[in-house]
Amino acid sequence: MPELQTSPIGGLALVTGGTSGIGLAFARALARRGCDLLLVARDPERLASTAEQLRSEYGVGVDTLTADLAGTEGIEAVAERLEDDATPVQVFISNAGHGIHTPLITEDLHRHEAALELMARSVLVLGGRAGRAMRRRGSGVIVNVGSVSGLLPLGGYSAVKAWVNTYSEALALELKGTGVGVTTLIPGWVRTEFHDRAGIGTSSIPNRLWLDSDRLVRDCLADVDKGKVESIPSKRYKIISFLLRRAPRALVRFLSAKIMSKRGGP
Ligand SMILES: NC(=O)c1ccc[n+]([C@@H]2O[C@H](COP(=O)([O-])OP(=O)(O)OC[C@H]3O[C@@H](n4cnc5c(N)ncnc54)[C@H](OP(=O)(O)O)[C@@H]3O)[C@@H](O)[C@H]2O)c1
Repeated sequence: MPELQTSPIGGLALVTGGTSGIGLAFARALARRGCDLLLVARDPERLASTAEQLRSEYGVGVDTLTADLAGTEGIEAVAERLEDDATPVQVFISNAGHGIHTPLITEDLHRHEAALELMARSVLVLGGRAGRAMRRRGSGVIVNVGSVSGLLPLGGYSAVKAWVNTYSEALALELKGTGVGVTTLIPGWVRTEFHDRAGIGTSSIPNRLWLDSDRLVRDCLADVDKGKVESIPSKRYKIISFLLRRAPRALVRFLSAKIMSKRGGP
């Protein structure tokens, strides 16, 4: 008889950036699977209304934690929650992030620095603290949201997401055999608030290259169930990523220059 595979997904799930886009899609999908939720973001009113909606729609417990993950205080508050054994976090979705539409040679580096804090330092600190606590408990799931953009040189955002893609794979290796699974989600373009918030033009992006956040999260959780280290949503982006990883870098730079010129700068 074939062996029945049990899902590692269950218990309490902490989702950073759980009020919008991909994070909200994770919150919905995890609630549908019966997980209680702890949502983290900066806007307390939006956190409260999202929590209320999820509670009434799915009948699960939803708590919120208001924290700015582009700062030490916010990162520490979430890290402490990830280590708390009283109500252990079984699933950690490290998702919060934003685009950067600022040249690398700008005088004022604050947007780049905030992005590094949010999408690199917080991912490093929270992944490490969650990983340690889960290893001690002998089980857990960590999903780090990287990007196909990390395979291209599209400004500061790509550089940070290249770090996330590599970091997450390295964390998976470090935790192999401990009962803690780490999956890197590597999406292409997804319809969320991301591009508007960063002031990135999207009119030149062909319709067929847009992904639906609910679909990509469903596929990602199926990959988590299978213990996959990487989840690249859709056949299209699987092929694109395969080619980007093998193409001559001169060709990758040529394509990147084309994309940047169409969206008006980096
Ligand atoms: N959309 C895409 O095309 C795409 C493609 C590849 C990868 N991604 C990645 O997917 C992740 C989610 O993006 P999304 O598209 O879902 O964007 P989104 O719709 O703009 O959602 C971003 C979420 O992150 C939270 N957030 C932003 N800055 C934060 C901070 N400093 N501290 C705590 N929370 C913060 C936001 O809430 P508050 O504003 O209330 O804090 C919101 O809940 C990001 O890591 C992004 O880089 C997106």
